[in-house]
Amino acid sequence: MPSIIPEEIERYAHDHTSDSGPLMNELAETTRKRMPSHGMMSGKAVGRLLQGLVRALQARNVLEIGSFTGYSALMMAQAMPDEGRIITCDVDPEATAIAREFWARSPHGSKIELKLGPALQTMKSLEGPFDFIFIDADKESYPDYYTRAMELLAPNGMIAVDNVLWSGRVLSPVSHSDKAIAEFNNIVQNDHRVVNLILPVRDGVMLIWPR
Ligand SMILES: C[S@@+](CC[C@H](N)C(=O)[O-])C[C@H]1O[C@@H](n2cnc3c(N)ncnc32)[C@H](O)[C@@H]1O
Repeated sequence: MPSIIPEEIERYAHDHTSDSGPLMNELAETTRKRMPSHGMMSGKAVGRLLQGLVRALQARNVLEIGSFTGYSALMMAQAMPDEGRIITCDVDPEATAIAREFWARSPHGSKIELKLGPALQTMKSLEGPFDFIFIDADKESYPDYYTRAMELLAPNGMIAVDNVLWSGRVLSPVSHSDKAIAEFNNIVQNDHRVVNLILPVRDGVMLIWPR
């Protein structure tokens, strides 16, 4: 994925972000070897950001849209108390088989429950409130995920959304997904119920919380 900030700054930030530890490093390496779409994995910077947010919010109930090989879910689980619970949604049995393999090897893996199936359907079946919701799945559905996430969010909760700068393509959207993300960013920017900001971490992470 092309960096949205100068490469050497990205590298410096990466080198000055705490290492994720041997199990997470092995998960990242396994994902790179076994999944051709490994670029979808969030990785250390976003993982550490999610951990910091979950910890600061003292989140006990977390919802994740887009599990892939389980990297972000396991990072969040590590920052949650023993009674903490994460529900994570995905449609890909191959990627989530890797996720299950690594969650089973972690003392924090039992906090994570995978719901295999279209995320919007799963979200409709869930009851909130969730203290933290991380949206990181198919970009075309971001507006729908956001609508439902707002219904499921705790009054003092927070939503984080990955890839909102989409390698910079939101500036001049061409493809369907470019346009979907640009439109999503506008929807949130014009939603007077919330405060939002975009952090230029990796591919852009938007944080959203109720006013
Ligand atoms: C960017 S990856 C998630 C990365 C993950 N959060 C991480 O940190 O490694 C996006 C995931 O969304 C999943 N996905 C795509 N469409 C979906 C849908 N309709 N419902 C649920 N998951 C979906 C894909 O299978 C993929 O695993």
